[in-house]
Amino acid sequence: MVRTGALQVRVRSITYLGEDVNAYELVPLEADSLPPFTAGAHIDLYFRDGRVRQYSLCNNPAETSRYIFAVQREENGRGGSKAIHEIVQVGRILAISHPRNNFPLHETAKHHVLVAGGIGITPMVAMAYRLRAISASFELHYGARSPSRLAFLEQLKEQGLSEHLHVYVDGGDPSRGMDLQQIVSHAPPDAHIYCCGPAGLVRGMRLATAAREPGTVHFEHFALSPAQPFVQGEMMLGGSATIGVGFKVKLARADREFYVPDDKTIVDVLRENGIEVPTSCEAGLCGTCRTSYLQGEPDHRDYVLDTEERRYQVMICCSRSRTPCLVLDL
Ligand code: FES
Repeated sequence: MVRTGALQVRVRSITYLGEDVNAYELVPLEADSLPPFTAGAHIDLYFRDGRVRQYSLCNNPAETSRYIFAVQREENGRGGSKAIHEIVQVGRILAISHPRNNFPLHETAKHHVLVAGGIGITPMVAMAYRLRAISASFELHYGARSPSRLAFLEQLKEQGLSEHLHVYVDGGDPSRGMDLQQIVSHAPPDAHIYCCGPAGLVRGMRLATAAREPGTVHFEHFALSPAQPFVQGEMMLGGSATIGVGFKVKLARADREFYVPDDKTIVDVLRENGIEVPTSCEAGLCGTCRTSYLQGEPDHRDYVLDTEERRYQVMICCSRSRTPCLVLDL
């Protein structure tokens, strides 16, 4: 079954990029072009069994005739990466969403610092193409466990991006990898910093950038595997350690209110009451359920919103409320 609004695309090529990493090139079935995307954007990939997975687009955003995403096979993941590596073949038709961007470049910044770990390089590749196209000042820090996992290194060099590149191989010991404090301290105060990679890198970067100007540090998270449960107060600095406390949610425009018990999400409760809200990952990763709020203080548990956005938006698939009532602009 194809979802409403889904795009159908054909896999034109599959390229081995590095240890357990393949790149998938997608082209339109009939039209000459695909909807445009901006650097940092991702697509949802719809599986026949109803699963949805998000993948960053890693080709040049100036290209309109194709999308490329890369997948690192995770033996202990949620199964999506294994399924793609095993099932997807050249010529196959896939259903995907239109590109969405929760990780955009702030193009007017005077300098950009891109920090990527492992397969977290994928949005940064598109960003590097774009920054070069607009002659922006930037540096790209790219780390991995081993040289064979630096899947995009050759491509970045071939594309003439070597002068921006700083490469790290840590052999599985993060203390031998990037010095995040040093990278951050060398960045001008008005630089924008972007980070994508495994939980340890993101956690380290959150600590290293804690004193930076709000709105100048941006994160993109991987989907979590069962082996990497969402840990409150660890990933989300300032987050509550309390998993579930009930609260009231009020819909300002619909003039309705509901109680959200400790074992349900806002989305669960709205659905139970016949209110459909768009969702995709339902894990705070994709940005589909982004909703404005008018009163109350959310307990933000997503991986999408930055500090500035959290002042007026909340991801209702996962976040809760620190106040007895949260008023949503719905
Ligand atoms: Fe993906 Fe809420 S549905 S962040």
